[in-house]
Amino acid sequence: MPKRTDPSTSMHAEITQELEEYCEAHSTPESDLLYRINRETHVKVMNPRMLSGHLQGMFLAAIVRMMRAQTVLEIGTYTGYSAICMAEALPENGRLDTIEINVELEDMIRRNFAQSPAAAKLQLHIGDALQVIPSLPSPWDLVFMDADKEDYIAYYELVLPLVRPGGFILADNVLWSGKVLEAAAPADKDTQALCQFNKYILEDQRVKNLLLPFRDGMMIIEKL
Ligand SMILES: C[S@@+](CC[C@H](N)C(=O)[O-])C[C@H]1O[C@@H](n2cnc3c(N)ncnc32)[C@H](O)[C@@H]1O
Repeated sequence: MPKRTDPSTSMHAEITQELEEYCEAHSTPESDLLYRINRETHVKVMNPRMLSGHLQGMFLAAIVRMMRAQTVLEIGTYTGYSAICMAEALPENGRLDTIEINVELEDMIRRNFAQSPAAAKLQLHIGDALQVIPSLPSPWDLVFMDADKEDYIAYYELVLPLVRPGGFILADNVLWSGKVLEAAAPADKDTQALCQFNKYILEDQRVKNLLLPFRDGMMIIEKL
């Protein structure tokens, strides 16, 4: 089939820093807790760019509310920002399991969770997601994948049977700062893995998907 492109896509504005700030200024502000976590992560933790941040946190929370999700799995907690955003959007009886491999982050995550009104809904698991996932209660309405890029296909294959039909998987960073457009250098395992993942999802007949050019690229996957 000939390659088809949507002519309207070329009309989108480039999202500059200034436009992003405008979007933030015209979105419901972060809570004080999320603002503090964002600040503290930038001051004390390596690679603070990994934190979802205001707009993506609001986006994840909106998805949870729109889906009326009750059970959520997150792969990759970091300092707990996105987990808190999603948990606070869950109903009272909701549950969010989140997995983090870096034991050095555990105290900070637990401190952050304890300050959230959704503390009772948040279940932290320290360990390798590939080992932890099979031990968790499921099915899930929503899975947010945000850990090791080389393992995205492995996470996906583990969780897909455990997502309810009609549920969603979100995979973050699938544009990898635009590197997916470059022929991946042999050493760049993350870019290679993300290119493979994006193709794998597109060709998977068990799902429908949308690669949303939001932030670093969010793959939205609907289980049929
Ligand atoms: C991009 S950060 C997560 C950011 C967080 N979701 C947020 O938005 O604030 C990725 C995290 O995944 C963790 N991670 C990497 N490999 C993992 C694995 N195999 N199992 C669990 N966590 C993992 C890293 O230690 C890191 O803290």
